[in-house]
Amino acid sequence: MKNYAVIGAFWGDEGKGKIVDYLTGQVDIVVRYQGGNNAGHTVVVAGKKFVFHLLPTGIIHMDKLCVIGNGLVVDPGVLMEEIKALEQQGMAMAELKLSESATLIMPWHKILDGIEGGKVGTTKRGIGPAYESKISRRGFKVGELLAWEAFSKKLKEQIDEVNWLLEQKYGHSKLDYGQILTEFELYAEKLSGYICNTSVLLHDAMKEGKAILFEGAQGTLLDIDHGTYPFVTSSNPSIGGVFTGTGVRPKVLRVIGVVKAYSTRVGNGPFPTELNDEISEHLRAKGHEYGATTGRPRRCGWLDLVLLRYTTMVNGFDELALTKLDVLTGLKRLKVCTGYEVDGKKYQQLDSLLHIAKAKPIYEEIEGWQEDIARCTSFDQLPKQCRAYVEYIERAVGVPIRYIGVGPGRREIIVR
Ligand code: IMP
Repeated sequence: MKNYAVIGAFWGDEGKGKIVDYLTGQVDIVVRYQGGNNAGHTVVVAGKKFVFHLLPTGIIHMDKLCVIGNGLVVDPGVLMEEIKALEQQGMAMAELKLSESATLIMPWHKILDGIEGGKVGTTKRGIGPAYESKISRRGFKVGELLAWEAFSKKLKEQIDEVNWLLEQKYGHSKLDYGQILTEFELYAEKLSGYICNTSVLLHDAMKEGKAILFEGAQGTLLDIDHGTYPFVTSSNPSIGGVFTGTGVRPKVLRVIGVVKAYSTRVGNGPFPTELNDEISEHLRAKGHEYGATTGRPRRCGWLDLVLLRYTTMVNGFDELALTKLDVLTGLKRLKVCTGYEVDGKKYQQLDSLLHIAKAKPIYEEIEGWQEDIARCTSFDQLPKQCRAYVEYIERAVGVPIRYIGVGPGRREIIVR
């Protein structure tokens, strides 16, 4: 098994960064395939915390190639800042390539997201409006930065249109063409060296026997097609996005679902096992459940096995990574949601996405554990109740849990 896809099983923030970081040692290339700087991947290296919003997590591994695939929406200013921040921290950076076919987030996308994204509770980074521009074929592709004359002309046309909308519909001040042109001229100059057809690049690398890790952002339940629509992001974090977002289809691909030992969600939308009590406070405080991108407190609740079975089905997870198990330490009794009651009828599996908003969770109780597990390096060293929790999830979903996160550090992981 050479290639991996690391995919969030819930609403993002599952701790994918840590699993990607661990697996990066086994591959040659790390590729992001969807989303943009709405993501926030945290990796702790030698006590230093790195949060990447746009760059693939592999960027801190000097000997790797990192790729921003065609499926992303790219804020060029953020990309430049992230590269600069790494340089300033004295981190040597991996080689980076940026797809010519990725879509640019333009300044008005961020303004429109700020105005329109409130209902969904978006990250206001311009993600939705940028994807809208791609689908409606008005978008700017990264490669257009390389044909400056045509870019300037198209920019003028679009700013004229956007200014009309901003002023007439939203009473917003006009955008300045000259200022934006100058800004993008700098991006074109600074980023041109990274731009190429990354699909060709990845195919060639695969032919040479190189291994690829596909790094998902957000999670399956935020998928525009398979999530809790309309409370979703505008891309495909689930398995399909791997292929459309990179233009390659490796023959051998191990699909890893990342799931937290409990559930969280940022932004609005249904969340059947959400809690608003001392348990959710414990999870938020101990798990540092505040958005890596926006700092918003995350909504917290018990693990939902109905949804995990569903996202396992959608993605065909080969194995699971269970993260932040240590956060549950100290709770006397744990609950897991094993079924839903919807309109008086009981379900063990999700029959309709529409049920999620109406579901009353049916719980089973499991005994908790009190021992610190951060120093456990093998499954056998975990307390008995802790092992029972892991095995319960495996049985319920029918997929092995291969990786277990027992603390925030990059080495605090058990591999079975
Ligand atoms: P957008 O992706 O900014 O359009 O936001 C759409 C929804 O996805 C909102 O509910 C966000 O809170 C959520 N979201 C976007 N990115 C992330 C992420 O990386 N982690 C968790 N939630 C996210």
